[in-house]
Amino acid sequence: MENTLVEATDVKKDFYTGKITVNALRGLDLNVHKGDFLSIVGPSGSGKTTLLNLIGALDVATSGEVKVFGKDLSSLSRRKRADLRLKSLGFVFQAYNLVPVLTALENVEFVLELQGVGKERRERAQAVLEDLSLGELGDRRPNELSGGQQQRVAVARAVASRPRLVLADEPTANLDSENAKTLLEMMRYLRDEHDMTFVFSTHDPLVVSYASRVVTLRDGRVVSDEQKNSIAEDDEATVH
Ligand SMILES: Nc1ncnc2c1ncn2[C@@H]1O[C@H](COP(=O)(O)OP(=O)(O)OP(=O)(O)O)[C@@H](O)[C@H]1O
Ligand SMILES: [Mg+2]
Repeated sequence: MENTLVEATDVKKDFYTGKITVNALRGLDLNVHKGDFLSIVGPSGSGKTTLLNLIGALDVATSGEVKVFGKDLSSLSRRKRADLRLKSLGFVFQAYNLVPVLTALENVEFVLELQGVGKERRERAQAVLEDLSLGELGDRRPNELSGGQQQRVAVARAVASRPRLVLADEPTANLDSENAKTLLEMMRYLRDEHDMTFVFSTHDPLVVSYASRVVTLRDGRVVSDEQKNSIAEDDEATVH
């Protein structure tokens, strides 16, 4: 279905470490729909990062099926999976992974270059930074930015090519609540204005309060899946 971006069916993921096998995912089912602002919660070790890595084609399931944009990831070659990651997915990690020797603007330009954007990439990178209220920070290197600003540049970089689906693993874990709010509002703006879909894992109640849907994992399975009105969206609704 066109509005179903991810279909995970009976997904199992085992990790083999020496003599021990860890059953990280144990028959997980999950669909992600266009426009979801989906928060994945659950105790440490419940499989959140493992799931995001499978959806993001960074790792492959032991069994079961993970379809992204209608394509079964296990049927794609390594190269096709890399192509999918580069062209259609955006990633935000807990550690920002900005390139330290490049400025904020160059960090964004760099991914556009990898994606094959030509001469207009400087202009586009600048436009993305401005769109996210980071226009003034373009010429600073990561060590000249606060943690919150670095994380926002990391989001700018992840969304510069307007990927349909953005995956974020604990994106606010290193941020205070003010910076976390700014980040979440930025992500929601992108969801609303640019038709993007977000899936993020978190332990942070603030992040959950922004989500439109909350999926809880326990021992590698989905134990609850709730649609909700985010508090912040209700606030906005009274403005219109
Ligand atoms: N590469 C790996 N090798 C071995 N075991 C792993 C590996 N990655 C994850 N695991 C195990 O799989 C299980 C699920 O881990 P995962 O990282 O997905 O949990 P999580 O829900 O993201 O936890 P947290 O909230 O602490 O980030 C854990 O028991 C973990 O130890
Ligand atoms: Mg994790």
